[in-house]
Amino acid sequence: MDHLIINGKQTLRGEVAINGSKNAATAILPAAIMCSGICVIDNLPNVDDILSLVEAMRKIGCKCDFKDKHTLIIDPSGINTTCANHESVRKLRGSYYLVGALLGRFGKAEVTLPGGCNFGTRPIDQHEKGLEALGASVTTEHGMIKAFAEKLTGANIYLDVASVGATINIMLAASCADGLTTIENAAKEPHVVDCANFLNVMGAKIKGAGTDVIKITGVNSLHGGEYTIIPDQIECGTFMIAAAATAGEITVKNIIPKHMDSVSAKLAEMGCKVEERSDSITVTGYPNLKHVNVKTMAYPGFPTDLQPQMTALLCNVSGTSIITETVFDNRYQYITELRRLGCNVTVDGRVAIINQLEKLTGADVNATDLRAGAALIIGALCAEGTTDIGNIKYVDRGYEAIEEKLANLGADIKRVSKEE
Ligand code: EPZ
Repeated sequence: MDHLIINGKQTLRGEVAINGSKNAATAILPAAIMCSGICVIDNLPNVDDILSLVEAMRKIGCKCDFKDKHTLIIDPSGINTTCANHESVRKLRGSYYLVGALLGRFGKAEVTLPGGCNFGTRPIDQHEKGLEALGASVTTEHGMIKAFAEKLTGANIYLDVASVGATINIMLAASCADGLTTIENAAKEPHVVDCANFLNVMGAKIKGAGTDVIKITGVNSLHGGEYTIIPDQIECGTFMIAAAATAGEITVKNIIPKHMDSVSAKLAEMGCKVEERSDSITVTGYPNLKHVNVKTMAYPGFPTDLQPQMTALLCNVSGTSIITETVFDNRYQYITELRRLGCNVTVDGRVAIINQLEKLTGADVNATDLRAGAALIIGALCAEGTTDIGNIKYVDRGYEAIEEKLANLGADIKRVSKEE
């Protein structure tokens, strides 16, 4: 098992190029299954979740060839089954997009229930509600999601929750349904928009992505084409927060600054200098930043996927800060590990109260999920002494070459493999 060994109190300075969005790629690769031609997807992040998804697609006969480590050529013409039950399917949450894609293309799908980060119940009732509204029968049995439809017909769907996954899954299935589908209370995240843009490049007719109401007019088929994935909003935010946490200066490059507005505003509120350009942002942190309160919300609010990283930053800021997690019902499991670094955090339901009393010190900790791992890295960068972070496999699911990027910024970090 891989560990990261970090000697803290280094100030991070320099530039880092942000990779493509894991959560956009997780939706766009299954979407390519719906195309009757070859798709070339560029700016893919070389992370384990994407490699697992490619393996799952290959197992159903979809030809996937890497032109280079960030460019994938997808030829779905060889798909020979609509049953995706390989172990690779369970490794990530986003594998449930195979349901919408296979159902939309072939009228049926059997997909192993998804895995992904464990922070509370992560139901799929809104996915089922949407697909059933389109005319599919959806059941969950023996650990599989099974969907079947003689014909998919457009419908009006009002989501109870602005679910990213449900919005995308319904959009996939509706792309080739008969007639108009309207999704109300739709998720507005950048990766929802990116998936809609990809589908439109391939011939779909989707309007309103990025707003509360998305309208999809079904088409007979989708063709192939080329598409470049948007930059990863959460990787970008992670490095912005690391700059603030180490009182350093980091320029994040190849990004879309608009996607970072809530993060830029919060870091500026703390006293950081935030300079925006067309495709980069420079964050300058200082000692004695101000404590702030953070409430996670669906986009364009502060992203829940940056909540752990923000908590780690605020653990190193004097005064009392309050974090409210409104998206997931149990996304504080990592706090136990942060406390081993000396963080003073009290959790009450969806609220975390942070009172920093003394400096952070290095310790042995374990990542509990992807963004928790990122939070522990930020905590370790701020701590005096050495921190050993285990379970780095979680971090590798969503961050490409994390230790190289941090080392290039001045971190004293190395990856070691240990027998558990
Ligand atoms: C996506 O998960 C992301 N994953 C998550 O990122 C992210 O935290 C989340 O969106 C919120 O932004 C991918 O895109 C692969 P949701 P998803 O459906 O789609 C409830 C990361 O670190 N809900 O928007 O699973 C749900 O319980 C990962 O990259 C229902 O009630 O999130 C949650 O409370 C972690 N019923 C809320 O909605 C449903 O059918 C938001 O979940 C679906 C969701």
